[in-house]
Amino acid sequence: MMYAAIMGYGTIGSGVAEILESSRERIAESAGEEIRLKYVLDLREFPDSPVADRVIHDFKVIEEDEQVGLVVETMGGLNPSYPFVKACLNAGKHVITSNKALVAAHGTELLQIARKKKVNFFFEASVGGGIPIIRNLYRCLMGEEIQEITGILNGTTNYILTKMDREGASFETVLKEAQDLGYAERNPEADVEGHDTCRKIAILAAMATGREVNYEDIYTEGITGITDMDFRYAKRMGTSVKLLGTSRIVGDKVYARVAPVMIGMDHPLYGVSGVYNGILVKSDMLGTSMYYGSGAGKLPTASAVVADMIEAAQNKDRNVPLGWEKEPQMLENIDSGECCYFVRVEGEISEYEERVRELFGQVETFVLEGADEFGFLTKSIREGDFKKLAIAFDAVPQKEGREGIRQMIRVEFA
Ligand code: HSE
Repeated sequence: MMYAAIMGYGTIGSGVAEILESSRERIAESAGEEIRLKYVLDLREFPDSPVADRVIHDFKVIEEDEQVGLVVETMGGLNPSYPFVKACLNAGKHVITSNKALVAAHGTELLQIARKKKVNFFFEASVGGGIPIIRNLYRCLMGEEIQEITGILNGTTNYILTKMDREGASFETVLKEAQDLGYAERNPEADVEGHDTCRKIAILAAMATGREVNYEDIYTEGITGITDMDFRYAKRMGTSVKLLGTSRIVGDKVYARVAPVMIGMDHPLYGVSGVYNGILVKSDMLGTSMYYGSGAGKLPTASAVVADMIEAAQNKDRNVPLGWEKEPQMLENIDSGECCYFVRVEGEISEYEERVRELFGQVETFVLEGADEFGFLTKSIREGDFKKLAIAFDAVPQKEGREGIRQMIRVEFA
């Protein structure tokens, strides 16, 4: 018998308790012994819940109970999750977390403590919710050299962008709708500004490189600047706009960024719609593989936590090697990356086409009926060069009141 505690009885924590009960026998069979929930730590009481008799409010009870070998952290945030998780690992307990903020900020240290104490620190649910991606990286792809990981890693923004694409609605309208339906938070900043995706791609980049990736070093752009007009052009170009977290390893250089990107219909991530997540991995022997599923939600995310609990129970006397070392991974400046760019310019195409071609070379142009602007697609160029060209374009005075370049979106074809 292995005793477990859950810290944080919110959506995911209560999902874990539910699965531990509903799948008790299957879990015991896989784990080799029964996993019994002994405590649920939360500030609140849950008198009508099935765990009412196990709710506690003092963390010390868990830390000091030697019977408890498995601790699940589903509180979110860094405080008190960080000190609590650290204390549990130091007390020789396995810890399973769904908390990407914790893993991105303190993963290196927590992995080190786990190794020293011969316990496990697992975090499958922190990226892609229920989608197995962390375990795929350290287990199934362990013989592969990872060259790229690109993911739609945030369900809220994918829901918003999909709706904008399909219904031609504005960002503000769809966000409000998503908030009313409970898909988006009242304060949606972490999702729509790309911070959530940033932490997730930092974790994946660290898994791929074996080194610590500081999420603060990752260039991050959200979707608040994406408009219904952008989607009109995207349709014309046979593309859609997706918020992508990308990490590319080219020789000894590592590139990482979070940004809305136009992708073509033959891109494997094109069909990942609504609240779903999709993660594409390119590796040297396997080539392209993709992992798709529910990136959030009670039972899908809890399912990943429970799988980690079983793996910890199967390896209760040893540390399963995974994760990354303390050595920091330097990231290349965003300006040295290369891709195609879609640009929208205010004004008539006839007035500007010559200047556009002079500066950007061969471009494909797009004009939408009734629009006071036009769009063009560049060939693949370095981002730093693109920025210089855009500055040069805008440096020539526009007609009075015109804003010149209105929008730039990176474009990637499969
Ligand atoms: N807010 C996140 C999302 C939850 O929308 O994907 C899962 O991390």
